[in-house]
Amino acid sequence: MSRRSYVTTPIYYVNAEPHLGHAYTTIVADVLNRFHTLCGTETYFLTGTDEHGDKIVAAAEKEGQTPKEYVDRVSDLFRTLWPKLNITNNYFVRTTDSDHQETVKRILNKVKERGDIYFSDYEGLYCFGCERFYTERELVDGKCPDHQTEPEVIKESNYFFAMSKYQDWLIDHIKQTPGFIRPERYKNEVLSFLKDPLDDLCISRPKSRLDWGITLPFDEDFVTYVWFDALINYISALDYPEGERFKKFWPSVQHMIAKDILKPHGIFWPCMLRSAGIEPYQHLNVHGYWNINEGKMSKSLGNVVKPLDLVDVYGLDAFRYFLLREMVFGLDSDFSEEALVARINADLANDLGNLVSRSLTMVRKYFKDEAPGVGSIGEEDEALKSDALALVDTYKELMPELGFHKALIAIWELVGKVNKYIDSMAPWVLIKSDQERLGTVMVYLLESLKIVSVLIWPFIPGTSEKIQGFLGLPKKGRDLKLKDLPEWGKGKTAVTISKIPHLFPRIEESRSKEGAKVEKETEKKDNEGGISFQEFQRLDLRVGHVLKAERIPGSKKLLKVIVDIGEERTVVAGLVGHYTEESLVGKQVVVVANLEPAKLMGVESQGMVLAAEDESGVHLLIPDAPVTPGSKIR
Ligand code: ME8
Repeated sequence: MSRRSYVTTPIYYVNAEPHLGHAYTTIVADVLNRFHTLCGTETYFLTGTDEHGDKIVAAAEKEGQTPKEYVDRVSDLFRTLWPKLNITNNYFVRTTDSDHQETVKRILNKVKERGDIYFSDYEGLYCFGCERFYTERELVDGKCPDHQTEPEVIKESNYFFAMSKYQDWLIDHIKQTPGFIRPERYKNEVLSFLKDPLDDLCISRPKSRLDWGITLPFDEDFVTYVWFDALINYISALDYPEGERFKKFWPSVQHMIAKDILKPHGIFWPCMLRSAGIEPYQHLNVHGYWNINEGKMSKSLGNVVKPLDLVDVYGLDAFRYFLLREMVFGLDSDFSEEALVARINADLANDLGNLVSRSLTMVRKYFKDEAPGVGSIGEEDEALKSDALALVDTYKELMPELGFHKALIAIWELVGKVNKYIDSMAPWVLIKSDQERLGTVMVYLLESLKIVSVLIWPFIPGTSEKIQGFLGLPKKGRDLKLKDLPEWGKGKTAVTISKIPHLFPRIEESRSKEGAKVEKETEKKDNEGGISFQEFQRLDLRVGHVLKAERIPGSKKLLKVIVDIGEERTVVAGLVGHYTEESLVGKQVVVVANLEPAKLMGVESQGMVLAAEDESGVHLLIPDAPVTPGSKIR
């Protein structure tokens, strides 16, 4: 791992508001940047907005604003969105910044001095959507493949960049530099494009046609082509050429983009850098597209997903987790709210959320504020430790190779193993039979949780830091590095909070659209007199372990019962006269865990205890053998 890391996102066009695609690239870049932070690497992370060109002028006109007013407004939407998605960019670059404009002029002069810019007449097929000329060969049925519109024939004199000069160099460089363009499929796509002779690149637009751009330093009548301008952001933001940041970070640069802008990044940009005498980038990381309902997400189709709408409903970490878990880097993925809800319920609420709450509840219950001490160590403990430490190594291999979803799968495998470890160690039995073993099990549990909390930090930093807070770790978040992890059981860990919250409440299906359908179906069934299986499944029934019971002052019937159902809950139950407070403590009961809370005699009841009633009285439903608190009843 190199000492420094520089990660960039594309600078987004301000002709549209931020959407899911922008959010994904920026989050995935943030994950990579945070991973480098965990490795102890000095990092720089850049994003920004692309604000020149025809498209922007057209969008501003539509809104009745000047281009400047318009770009200021929309650029701000991007700039202010990123902190809400917990993006840790160091800088936000805009192509209308004067520093950036100066750098573009400097590069243009440099490339010209090199003899790589010439003036020529040109007639070509121009797509206004893409802001570029197309060759016949690139069109599909005579139309632009991206916009499905016929390009217009434009004849004008323009400046050209002699890109073809660098074709052979580029082919060699791509072939000889491992991971220059990755994954492989995109490297192959670029190489296959380079099999045909490369055209030179038209890099100017006459001001008579477009004046919203950077004036060429050597001809007042022309502005710079928007791509030639935009790509330079990656160095202007570092204060090229004299800036300290440029010297420090440029050698480790990696760009994160989607497949739509492979050609400018895979071909134009390395040739521009070469001509300007700047080292090429280290990696171009290319991901696939999010499709919605198996089709493209586009403004005209009206199916654009606004990231904040989902974050407001489901929470930021759930959103970040879903995007990173669902998409295999490099391939397309389908986005649906139903899939998001399914992931939240299965991976976050059930697996991780439950693990955290049941572990912390037990440590808290058995040891209070004191850190448990390790007693005798058995085979299962050793196995858990070696699995957890092996995971750290696997993670270190997968993350730099963009194997984000694989890393998450591997982390969740450990979460599953720890859940199983609890079940087979049965701490609730050890508390009575073997306190020394109980200490070991609890320490091993906490150490595994600590590792999980660190490895998930790049993906779901909020949750990671919450868990680290519960564990009372002296170092948290960005300060807790991967190299600290093999220190198993050295720093004493104890649980520092008394009320263990649920990290990811289950999402009721009715909150998702599919769920709405389910609800309608259920209504129908209800009218027919029965309940559907889906409705039955919506009940969250769990085994609870009674920790405490007391009378509610002023009530003749009601007891306030504290139960452990993987987390602590207060339940109000009409058990006076049927059970004494003392007899309830230690009993296992069945709790309806997803009832809406209700206030009874001033006490909030967060569930219901199930009981049967006949003429002999009220009898609690009790499992016929001890079961882990929190276990689901199916
Ligand atoms: O191309 N799925 O800006 P842009 C995944 N200004 N990612 C998507 C996506 C989708 N459906 N749609 C968009 C530009 N993206 C230029 C870039 S860089 C020097 C200049 C993401 O606003 C993805 O990162 O059209 C894609 O490459 C980028 O948005 C395009 O953003």
